[in-house]
Amino acid sequence: MARVLFGVTGGIAAYKACDLVRLLVKGGHDVVPLVTPGADRFVRARTFAALARRSPAEDPYPHLTRADLFVVAPATANTLAKLAHGLADNLVTEAALAHRGPTLVAPAMNPRMWANPATRANLEILRARGTVLVGPDEGEVAEGEWGVGRMAEPEEIYARARTLLGESETLLGKSVLVTAGGTREPLDAVRFVGNRSSGRMGVALADTARKRGAKVTLLAANLAVEPPAGVDVIPTTTAEEMLAAVRANRGADLVLMAAAVADYRPTDRSDDKRPKADAPWQVTLEPTPDILAELGARRENGQVLVGFAADRGANGLERAREKLARKAVDLIVFNDVARDDIGFDAPDNEVVLVSASGETHVEKAPKDRIASAIVDRAEELLRERS
Ligand SMILES: Cc1cc2nc3c(=O)[nH]c(=O)nc-3n(C[C@H](O)[C@H](O)[C@H](O)COP(=O)(O)O)c2cc1C
Repeated sequence: MARVLFGVTGGIAAYKACDLVRLLVKGGHDVVPLVTPGADRFVRARTFAALARRSPAEDPYPHLTRADLFVVAPATANTLAKLAHGLADNLVTEAALAHRGPTLVAPAMNPRMWANPATRANLEILRARGTVLVGPDEGEVAEGEWGVGRMAEPEEIYARARTLLGESETLLGKSVLVTAGGTREPLDAVRFVGNRSSGRMGVALADTARKRGAKVTLLAANLAVEPPAGVDVIPTTTAEEMLAAVRANRGADLVLMAAAVADYRPTDRSDDKRPKADAPWQVTLEPTPDILAELGARRENGQVLVGFAADRGANGLERAREKLARKAVDLIVFNDVARDDIGFDAPDNEVVLVSASGETHVEKAPKDRIASAIVDRAEELLRERS
């Protein structure tokens, strides 16, 4: 179990540090929170002790002599200056001087403090010394100003922490097949029956799996976004092509079926463009092959199969539970498409992960964070399999 010294300094973003402590603890790390008096004005040291599952009365000094990683999040302009110049006047700065090993710093301050030449010079000193900096991001800071200064998101800091701890390649040696986007079923040479899926969710999943060391194949159905670098991309326009590509890419350790595959396609399709006419055009639709059910029925040894259910409301969740059993998959990711702020063609999502052992609600977040939660759960299932 890696020991992480976790410094918190006095910025509003201290509340976000709570989530980071939770992620580290959940990831099985031994977290020692070190809270400056400045930070204690925002979030009490007791809160961090509780989140790190430690006694608030514990003396942190014995832990300062050995740690695998030192994190400061958020790091104020004041603390950056102290770290750069070797001051040691509180627990965080004392720990920094005593620590031997990787240091990860997540600055957070208003954009003017961030742009100040004094801060820039301090950052240069830290960088030159090998300190790893994450963020800050551009966005609205707490005072309502816009600019660079907002602390990086806890998930991003956590990912960097894992990399520094040599833990990030959790899918190394695994192959992952991802489907993304929405299929288009032709009516004639130029018209089709399609859906609003942009492919963002599947692309985020492919990117997450690749960053974790997997060999990723992405079956891309009419993506509205760029596929990530470093993955094999196979274009698949229709449900039929998607099925053929899935069959040709059997044997993946993990299959993430995020694409919105048409359930129905036009029975007749013309290779020409149907001319415009006054008479109505009656179209008959027939069911497409059920790719997920086929994969479930012919599952390879140890393979983890994740399906997606874009459905509406509480009944939709009920149908997702039923789909888990009917299609013999390991996990169904349910998202409620009755809402227009998440799901189809939106940057955010909010999902329920439905598996035989229970359900987990993943709060509304950008799709890359949702992708991390899904891949985390899929990795747990892979570990259970082996
Ligand atoms: C409401 C409020 C918000 C603050 N937010 C920040 C911040 O985001 N970043 C920063 O560098 N300083 C911020 N400060 C100033 C620091 O709290 C101050 O420099 C303090 O001395 C930092 O001490 P520490 O680095 O030892 O925690 C804030 C101060 C107040 C009162």
